[in-house]
Amino acid sequence: TPPPPDSALLLAWYDRHSRVLPWRGTAGRPDPYRVWLSEVMLQQTTVAAVGPRYTRFLARFPDVQALAAAGWEEVAEEWAGLGYYARARNLHAGAKALVAQGFPSTEAGLRAIPGIGPYTAAAVAAIAFDAPVVPADGNVERVAARIFRVETPLPAAKKRLAELAQGWMAQPAARARPGDFAQALFDLGATICTPRNPACALCPWRQGCAAHAAGVQAELPRKTPK
Ligand code: ADE
Repeated sequence: TPPPPDSALLLAWYDRHSRVLPWRGTAGRPDPYRVWLSEVMLQQTTVAAVGPRYTRFLARFPDVQALAAAGWEEVAEEWAGLGYYARARNLHAGAKALVAQGFPSTEAGLRAIPGIGPYTAAAVAAIAFDAPVVPADGNVERVAARIFRVETPLPAAKKRLAELAQGWMAQPAARARPGDFAQALFDLGATICTPRNPACALCPWRQGCAAHAAGVQAELPRKTPK
């Protein structure tokens, strides 16, 4: 495996090019409830579609107490059109548990909340609490597959890609800003290291990318046909 490119290069890029998104505060640490809500909504819904629905959901359920106190019918009504209602069920059940026991600040603590799975726990721990974890969504898997030129197809490569991504946390620059680092990976994957026609000329990690060096970036990650 090639050495990981410098996390400081990605963070410097993020400082200039981060997307302005409703769940990203302007300064300081974001509200864990808002981070959780955004991450759940973003799991099967695009960033563009989530924007207005996130704002509307928060207007109706401004904090975890309000969500926990609501009836299921209300939550389902507010979720209408977003699809995958299991997500709304998990949010509602999770809110009740979070009110009962407080909002955990660690990945393991979050994992213990009913309805919070491994990705969500990692994303909330990193973004809301700056825990040194790298949440591996599809964007992060794609970036890692290309940077390290992982030829094993998905889904078999998932664990390896998550481990490679987590390896960035060994670098002090990433460790100093885990939430920004995670979101920088999301933004890189969404705007530069895109599934098709990646914009390698604009990539802060171009020089450390094994797929780019070999000219195979557009072929990675490989996928096992369903
Ligand atoms: N996809 C998943 N989480 C995200 C986030 N916090 N920002 C942008 N895209 C995302």
